[in-house]
Amino acid sequence: MSLVSGPGRGGMGALPGEMRLLVDKHVRYIQSLDTRKDELEYWLTEHLRLNGLYWGLTALHLLGHPAALPRGEVLEFVFACLHDNGGFGAAPGHDAHMLYTVSAVQILATLDAFGELDGRVPDGRLKIAAFIASLQDADTGTFAGDEWGERDTRFLYGALNALSLMGLLHLVDVEKAVQHVQSCANFDGGYGTGPGAETHSGQVFTCVAALTIAGRTDLVNAEKLGAWLSERQLKNGGLNGRPEKKEDVCYSWWVMSSLAMLDKLHWIDGDKLANFILQCQDPELGGLADRPGDMVDVFHTNFGLAGLSLLKYPGLEEIDPVYCMPRSVTKRCLGK
Ligand code: FPP
Ligand code: ZN
Repeated sequence: MSLVSGPGRGGMGALPGEMRLLVDKHVRYIQSLDTRKDELEYWLTEHLRLNGLYWGLTALHLLGHPAALPRGEVLEFVFACLHDNGGFGAAPGHDAHMLYTVSAVQILATLDAFGELDGRVPDGRLKIAAFIASLQDADTGTFAGDEWGERDTRFLYGALNALSLMGLLHLVDVEKAVQHVQSCANFDGGYGTGPGAETHSGQVFTCVAALTIAGRTDLVNAEKLGAWLSERQLKNGGLNGRPEKKEDVCYSWWVMSSLAMLDKLHWIDGDKLANFILQCQDPELGGLADRPGDMVDVFHTNFGLAGLSLLKYPGLEEIDPVYCMPRSVTKRCLGK
């Protein structure tokens, strides 16, 4: 197999049966996603298209192939998803929603394309920010996903992520959003979708990242939460999202990014986790699955690679644990 690349994990101590990262195969897998329009799966995932583009693009940057998708075509697609109200839908013709709007902003930031946005839509960034700000609940400080009103800490995080990338965080009540995150804290140090909801690693990520963007990590019970997160590692090295659940590659991201923000990455056995993630690769067609032997998808491909990047796997670009974007991009956008 000549496509095996990357220098291996030499100094980190290779484990028995360990695979290497199949960089070229993953690049080709991501490139192939948009050419599979004759397959049912492509159309079944249309409601996720803009998210998928963000996951694929981020993965390619981490793999060191940032130009592997055609920049012009990607931007045309993103602009075709933009509504007059400043929100983006999952694909052209789909309703505007916070999650797709965040992915659109992340893609535009990654491609350094805010200038092109403003060239097409006067005050483009302000329009997008106004859509996001309109979704904040003035009473509680949290955010809805769309005009229909479902509220969740995912949307609160998404709002702070996208607004800070555009330098427009001041358009929302950050203090009130912080108070809301605090009201979601549980006895175990973790966070759920809203006040009183069970702790879940995905929601822990959104809440800790939101507090990090707001500059309020002092509010996190780092010792308690760090301990709860480190208990997510199972015998096979993989991480689960909650007690009694199965391991899943995407939790390599939700759990590890949270530990990274708390400066407690070393509370997980990185070698065992890296080995688990590598076992989730499809050695023939590329891509990563949720667990070894399952079907790959671009979501788990991105979050598996992002997890490996947090583990400093050789040859991968550095990921920003707060934004799940290349560190070089967030440095450019945030100036730090
Ligand atoms: C687990 O989902 C993950 C979460 C609940 C967090 C999702 C966070 C976002 C969508 C915010 C945007 C994220 C980034 C990186 C910009 P799941 O449905 O797989 O949970 P399950 O394992 O319990 O089924
Ligand atoms: Zn998963």
